[in-house]
Amino acid sequence: MSHCRARMSIVRTCLSLSSRHLTSRRVLSHVGRVVGSHRPPVRLNPTHRRTEKKRNGIVAMGEDWESMWAAGLEPGQAFDASRVEPGFQDLINTGTLPKGTALVPGCGRGYAVAALGSAERKVFGLEVSTTAKAAADAYLSTAKAGDGSAATEHCTVVIDDFFTHTGQYDLVYDCTFLCAIPPSRREEWATQMSKLIKPGGEIVSLVFPLGDYEGGPPFALSTKIVEDLLTPAGFEVVSLTEVPEEKLARTYPRGLRGEYLYRWRRL
Ligand SMILES: C[S@@+](CC[C@H](N)C(=O)[O-])C[C@H]1O[C@@H](n2cnc3c(N)ncnc32)[C@H](O)[C@@H]1O
Repeated sequence: MSHCRARMSIVRTCLSLSSRHLTSRRVLSHVGRVVGSHRPPVRLNPTHRRTEKKRNGIVAMGEDWESMWAAGLEPGQAFDASRVEPGFQDLINTGTLPKGTALVPGCGRGYAVAALGSAERKVFGLEVSTTAKAAADAYLSTAKAGDGSAATEHCTVVIDDFFTHTGQYDLVYDCTFLCAIPPSRREEWATQMSKLIKPGGEIVSLVFPLGDYEGGPPFALSTKIVEDLLTPAGFEVVSLTEVPEEKLARTYPRGLRGEYLYRWRRL
């Protein structure tokens, strides 16, 4: 059994969604529903919890990323949503995201890289896995950029470690990257974001998976976790949007649902 498979996580039963962490601050939303107040936690009933235990959780992501990709990760498997996240596509469609240069750390097959690309926005995907880069290059070679032109005209995937990467970007899209790194590196993640994003530039964080369970990846996230990371790192909130049910990109185990798009500006 490969190291990767051995590391694949069994994520334990979630007891509640983390939406109770939402701040009471009212924020503007461009897509989906405006979120501005606490919601009561959703609790799983005991029957559901037993069922999930029987199912033995999910096999989701490995930390040995190259092994996971090299084992053959097809579109739609594990974290791969086989398309750009529909909620994020709606946000792109508003035309309000910064132009210039964009970064997608841990870009995987590169769906978001292509969707963000345009004559007005050059996009870089970052990957540590050479197999992931090959998969992204193959995808981008036939994909259309956001403005309908060939994705290869505006999009590039580079092999580099996010934590040591250097550059200056107008926009970063973090999707299933923060939840993939060990929680012990989260502050480093925020500090690195503040170095990589220009003053006035933005980060959009797809907050997923929502939960308060132990272990990962994917490690559970909440809007509060993202706030507690980005506020001290020098960012201010632009908008917080709950992605509508019909636009969710990924399904949850254990019947839990939900994604938020959290948009922040570098001060
Ligand atoms: C959970 S996957 C998400 C992929 C993609 N964002 C998606 O949603 O399909 C995390 C990705 O991050 C990459 N990765 C992990 N650590 C990284 C790092 N330090 N720098 C750059 N990429 C990294 C992995 O190879 C993997 O493809």
